[in-house]
Amino acid sequence: MKRRSLIAGNWKMHTTAGDARDLALAVATICSDIKDRDVLLAPPFTVLADVADSVENTGILVAGQNVCWEEKGAFTGEISPVMIKAAGGAAAIVGHSERRQIFLETDELINRRVSGGLSFGLTIILCVGETLEEREDGEAFTVLEKQVRRGLAGVHAADMAKVVIAYEPVWAIGTGRTASKEQAQEIHAFLRRLIAELYEKDIAAQTRILYGGSVKPTNIDELMAQPDIDGALVGGAALDAEIFGRIIAFK
Ligand code: PGA
Repeated sequence: MKRRSLIAGNWKMHTTAGDARDLALAVATICSDIKDRDVLLAPPFTVLADVADSVENTGILVAGQNVCWEEKGAFTGEISPVMIKAAGGAAAIVGHSERRQIFLETDELINRRVSGGLSFGLTIILCVGETLEEREDGEAFTVLEKQVRRGLAGVHAADMAKVVIAYEPVWAIGTGRTASKEQAQEIHAFLRRLIAELYEKDIAAQTRILYGGSVKPTNIDELMAQPDIDGALVGGAALDAEIFGRIIAFK
């Protein structure tokens, strides 16, 4: 079974209302003829509604870059799943390595975000990835397995249709250093086997696993040609509509 591809743009802490709208509209124009793959934009929360408005009825999905597990309450600085939905979002990125490393989010906290987001009907893009040190120490598989097991703890099989995994080796994010297609495929195949073990084969076969880390127009084709790579989570290159458009139009 061929999974539908997903190209996601993570805008990180970039754009204010004017340039966010311009970028979203430019992406929507570039995507207007593309029907055989999904495109998702994850802008900062402050412009999420502007972006959702700009891409309304285009089929482009909009996501938050994080999500709290509660609907509302005393959670200063957090954004709830209900707020994301009300602003026009349908998804959230959770567990990005910048959240893990800079803001010290643990697997347990990330798991609460995953479960909470799912319980309100959001699609969740759960990011996992090893650091350079962990890879060099031969720990990559152990670290990834722990992140997936803990991140998905308590998530029911029925909710897995709304879960996307993003493999983002920390050493490849924003460094210009991409995992080779062989390195990425090896990890993606491992993650798919792990999902089959945690759930069942059919669920693993349906789960989309994205690659992220210095994805560019020059490496997207060979990455997407790998059997277990179903899409990309794109940072820097998603901030330029033309470059992002070339990634979306991968062969
Ligand atoms: P990058 O970021 O494409 O700029 O490496 C990817 C990400 O962090 O999601």
